[in-house]
Amino acid sequence: MESDAKSKGGSVVGTVESQHSRLLKKIRQRQAVIGIVGLGYVGLPLMIRFAQTGFRVIGFDIDPAKVEALNAGRSYIEHIASDEVAAARSAGFEATGDFARATGADALILCVPTPLNSHREPDLSFVHGTMDSLVPHLRAGQLVALESTTYPGTTEEELLPRIESRGFKVGSDVFLVFSPEREDPANPNYTTQTIPKVCGGVTPACLEAGKALYEQVIERVVAVSSTRVAEMTKLLENIHRAVNIGLVNEMKIVADRMGIDIHEVIRAAATKPFGFVPYYPGPGLGGHCIPIDPFYLTWKAREYGVHTRFIELAGEINSTMPEWVIGKVIASLNTKGKSVNGSRILVLGIAYKKNVDDTRESPAVEIMERLRDLGAELSYSDPHVPVFPKMRKHQFALSSVALDAEKLASFDVVLIATNHDRFDYDLIRKHSGLIVDTRGVYLEPAANIVKA
Ligand SMILES: NC(=O)c1ccc[n+]([C@@H]2O[C@H](COP(=O)([O-])OP(=O)(O)OC[C@H]3O[C@@H](n4cnc5c(N)ncnc54)[C@H](O)[C@@H]3O)[C@@H](O)[C@H]2O)c1
Repeated sequence: MESDAKSKGGSVVGTVESQHSRLLKKIRQRQAVIGIVGLGYVGLPLMIRFAQTGFRVIGFDIDPAKVEALNAGRSYIEHIASDEVAAARSAGFEATGDFARATGADALILCVPTPLNSHREPDLSFVHGTMDSLVPHLRAGQLVALESTTYPGTTEEELLPRIESRGFKVGSDVFLVFSPEREDPANPNYTTQTIPKVCGGVTPACLEAGKALYEQVIERVVAVSSTRVAEMTKLLENIHRAVNIGLVNEMKIVADRMGIDIHEVIRAAATKPFGFVPYYPGPGLGGHCIPIDPFYLTWKAREYGVHTRFIELAGEINSTMPEWVIGKVIASLNTKGKSVNGSRILVLGIAYKKNVDDTRESPAVEIMERLRDLGAELSYSDPHVPVFPKMRKHQFALSSVALDAEKLASFDVVLIATNHDRFDYDLIRKHSGLIVDTRGVYLEPAANIVKA
């Protein structure tokens, strides 16, 4: 093993021990500078956690509006308080779009989007874009961690060669890990600190560095044997949800035909103290994870000649849910001698899940789109989304409607798409002519309530 430092790729490269042990020492003494790349739903809470723990954090983002807001101490995400951003700012946090600053970071944590393209295949353009911006500014002695959900192999196939293209050896000059994010926005029971974090490294030295880093801010770090295991772990977690939600959505249709309330069944089954985990049916999958992540595995599995049947089947069932809900709206209007065309329909909750302001992939919006195509006159109410947001695929020039008795009575259908706690469900039940409840909000049957 070399003992003298030598010049490589414009950087000073030392021995395996020296780069590695220097990095570990900096991390353990909390002297390491942390670079968070992508200051979104995942990157922002992580930045706050590192700042709270005494680390200096540089945040990188390509969106100048986010950089400006965060530097002004303002959060742009509802469930993240501006006070926390301001406190991080006071502790030395700074946001920037200047990737040359990456050289000054000891650890670079990538939290950028991994969506699907129009062919429902992995779109790694954000990961590639990030690496293109970072690679010229890497230096020896840095740790690179990918947190974005992706298929097994991404870290070693996409990040490793890009890093090594600069002449660095991963495992001795630069350390590379995959550590999936497990954020559950607006869940009061868990924080970034208390959610155990899985971490896999390209080499044992990489893993040791990754583990040391995350252990500074997270109570339990679960080390696994490779980046591929860590990548697959995240996919298993989300596929487990997608498949079980698909199962209860199918059960909902069967129960509906049989005149049984699926929510009552789930409540009863959930009293079993072992071997049953309750999942709840709804108007379809939403958010940036469950509708998307399983298809990262489907795509990669094809390379190995494997067809992921459970994922496909769950996807098929879950993606028909908006249409099933619309069928219920049509049928219930029909009993009143009305058609969707010309009806006034109020959608309650356009965020993809309760108590958040995130509308990405929200089935409520897909339902609104389809009802509009059928000629309905649409309004929505969502205390977390005051103005209909700019979305890639959907456009509505609407603002959230304030709910009162008179307003509720003025609609032909009130469709509960997302069951936010801030809705007054008694008021809604009392004054709505017809409620289509896709979330099992109302336990007791009533003449004006249709479960969907
Ligand atoms: N939101 C969650 O609850 C959650 C949970 C687990 C995993 N994830 C995964 O984490 C990843 C990030 O998700 P998110 O919800 O935080 O996304 P997000 O869209 O909220 O944030 C991503 C941020 O990255 C920025 N960005 C895009 N390209 C960039 C680039 N080249 N350089 C720097 N910044 C760039 C965007 O401007 C944005 O601010 C995804 O892979 C997602 O699947 C998200």
